[in-house]
Amino acid sequence: WGRRKNITSVLAEQLPRDIIELLRRLGELGEELGYKVYAVGGFIRDLLLRRPNLDIDIVVEGDGITFAKAFAERAGIRARCHKKFNTAVLIFDDNLKVDVATARLEYYQYPAALPVVQFGSLKMDLYRRDFTINTLALALNPDEFGQLIDFFGGQRDIKEKAIRVLHNLSFVEDPTRILRAIRFEQRFGFRVGKQTASLIRHAVKIGLIERLGGQRLFHEIQHILMEEDPVPAIRRMAEFGVLGVICPSVCFDAKAEETLLQIKEVLSWYELSFLDEPLESWWVYFLGLLSRLPHKDLQKVMERLDLAQNMRERIAWTFQRVNQVLGDFLRLPHQRPSAIYRALQPFRPEEILFMMATTQREEVRRAISHYFHRYRHVQPEIRGRDLKEMGIPPGPVYAKILNRILDARLNGEVRSREEEAALARRLAWRELEAGEGKESHVHGS
Ligand code: CTP
Repeated sequence: WGRRKNITSVLAEQLPRDIIELLRRLGELGEELGYKVYAVGGFIRDLLLRRPNLDIDIVVEGDGITFAKAFAERAGIRARCHKKFNTAVLIFDDNLKVDVATARLEYYQYPAALPVVQFGSLKMDLYRRDFTINTLALALNPDEFGQLIDFFGGQRDIKEKAIRVLHNLSFVEDPTRILRAIRFEQRFGFRVGKQTASLIRHAVKIGLIERLGGQRLFHEIQHILMEEDPVPAIRRMAEFGVLGVICPSVCFDAKAEETLLQIKEVLSWYELSFLDEPLESWWVYFLGLLSRLPHKDLQKVMERLDLAQNMRERIAWTFQRVNQVLGDFLRLPHQRPSAIYRALQPFRPEEILFMMATTQREEVRRAISHYFHRYRHVQPEIRGRDLKEMGIPPGPVYAKILNRILDARLNGEVRSREEEAALARRLAWRELEAGEGKESHVHGS
């Protein structure tokens, strides 16, 4: 039955009271329906590591869908069921969700056949998982609530800070685990075990990564880049030969490392300065990884990762435009605010941060910093309807006038609504004259 020990004191110490209550209620319902219910996987791993994680996964020895429906009805919440996989998601109001999986109870392929599965269905479910640290389970039924169940040495490996697979075919079964091993290793400051490391090397050597579909591979890379500090994980990918397999010219030399470290620095600067502006930092690292590829290899990698067409176009556009803008900045280092604004405004913040990380020039970095801090949210106080009220006939001229006012505002040439309005009148007048000039020219010709 695996090693068991009671960890209710850890639960009380680590989890909010309402979550413990929720776990108890899940166990009570299981008991009523005659099912055993367990919380499993990353949630338990992180509980033991004292890392906050409220992504709760439960396994029901019984019918997960019946269980989820009954729970949802009782709690007055929604359950989204996936009949095909016998799984469900309980969706609570406050963003909390509980994933419910079914551990099948059939032990025999047909009546009187030998048991296909020699151990209980929870154990079977856990045996299919990637690493020992993800195979811990917590019993939730009332008479055993809080018992930690450890079939495969998960506690030992957490203590030894080791990432270990459960069996030698694990990477053959699912090659994405190669990248998951690296991700968990770096996230927790663990080390891939010796035997597991040689299985990874072997798997890379026999071409298992090549067999992965582009989208799955991209998804795993994206997950690595989403980690708090992806740089050591990227280094580790290179060590295991994973980067080289994705594209021989994506390498992790001193220059690549320097770029990634610059990105890290720029990102922490941005995140500290703009605490509540959402940022997809993985995208900046991704651009950093791709940025040193020759054009042809870039196309190959994008193809290999099966990136959506619009993403490919955006990446190519970014590299081209970033070079242009950096070139312009170098030629004219002291540009006016409006020129800086016009140069940077077409980019997403992630792309500008990539640009910032790839240049060492102090004046360029300062210009970018000014853009983020001072320019990007500047808007004229007057709007189109104000121009209308001034009696300016609507038309394309509005955009022209409003743009000029924005430039003037950025450059400090106008500082109030009144000054903006005065400028609008002058500009409208000038446009009108120019228009009439053109007209008489046309008539005259
Ligand atoms: N799993 C697996 N093989 C995979 C993906 C997932 O065996 N290729 C198992 C893992 O054991 C994991 C569980 O499915 O515990 C849930 O997967 P996921 O949510 O990706 O893992 P977490 O451990 O919760 O990781 P994270 O903290 O990154 O969400």
